[in-house]
Amino acid sequence: MPRFDVLTLFAGYFEPLRSQGICRRAFDSGALQLHTWNPRDHASGAHRSVDDRPYGGGPGMVMLAEPLLGALRAAQSARAGAGLGAAPVLLFSPAGRVLRQPEVQRLAASEGAVLVCGRYEGVDQRFIDLHVDEEISLGDFVLSGGEIPAMALLDAVARLLPGVLGDELSAQQDSFSDGLLDCPHYTRPPLFETREVPQVLMGGDHARIARWRRDRMLELSWRRRPELVLELERAGRLDRQDLRMLAELRARDAGQAGAAPSATPATPSAAPSAAD
Ligand SMILES: C[S@@+](CC[C@H](N)C(=O)[O-])C[C@H]1O[C@@H](n2cnc3c(N)ncnc32)[C@H](O)[C@@H]1O
Repeated sequence: MPRFDVLTLFAGYFEPLRSQGICRRAFDSGALQLHTWNPRDHASGAHRSVDDRPYGGGPGMVMLAEPLLGALRAAQSARAGAGLGAAPVLLFSPAGRVLRQPEVQRLAASEGAVLVCGRYEGVDQRFIDLHVDEEISLGDFVLSGGEIPAMALLDAVARLLPGVLGDELSAQQDSFSDGLLDCPHYTRPPLFETREVPQVLMGGDHARIARWRRDRMLELSWRRRPELVLELERAGRLDRQDLRMLAELRARDAGQAGAAPSATPATPSAAPSAAD
């Protein structure tokens, strides 16, 4: 059962996670544990400051290393008191490695982590150098703090934990769970405006439906994220029918590009262009 200890100046952000939806189920059942630690509780001085002006001048404030270290030590000793081993210390930062599903899967299967939420211009670099194991980014944009990335990570972990989703298979069929994007989904009515539900989904042939879905996953991934398909191909994780579909997609691309269609395995340079 993973436990996350979050160092944050704004613990209130996490309350909706505890009280709503899938995450609430994870917390209520004890599948996921969350503890917050406020660096301000470890700040010194009459004002209990947690930030100061940057050396060298410039706009904004920088989070002080000492209150963060106090909060980190408190979190680490509480974890040790609960019988847990040393946990990785992860800092949210636009400069970090973009969070991907394999990392979420690893965390869901682990004892958890200490998550550090930056604010202001960021965190004193010496705290990062000395106490952070890894920096994690949510993407190439700038948020006001690390709380929303922390909540995103917790939500992504929660849905992988046993008993949290209504149907265990849902998470296994989600995008990225086996490296591809998810297939399209349809529900009632059978005809919406001019669009019908694909016939194969109405026929009840489960093997054909499974193949159709897998082909759509490959097709969508090939169009939008070809590197995902190429990664699986390189790792030998595409079966014979997958490879046949991939050859068909490459042949279509070659046909559209005006070249003679070819079903021979292509190299990464044969990935579809943005125009596809
Ligand atoms: C206003 S941001 C600091 C931005 C920093 N000065 C920069 O330009 O990279 C404050 C905090 O929000 C968090 N944050 C902002 N954008 C993020 C992102 N894309 N991924 C992860 N954390 C982010 C980090 O914890 C960061 O320390």
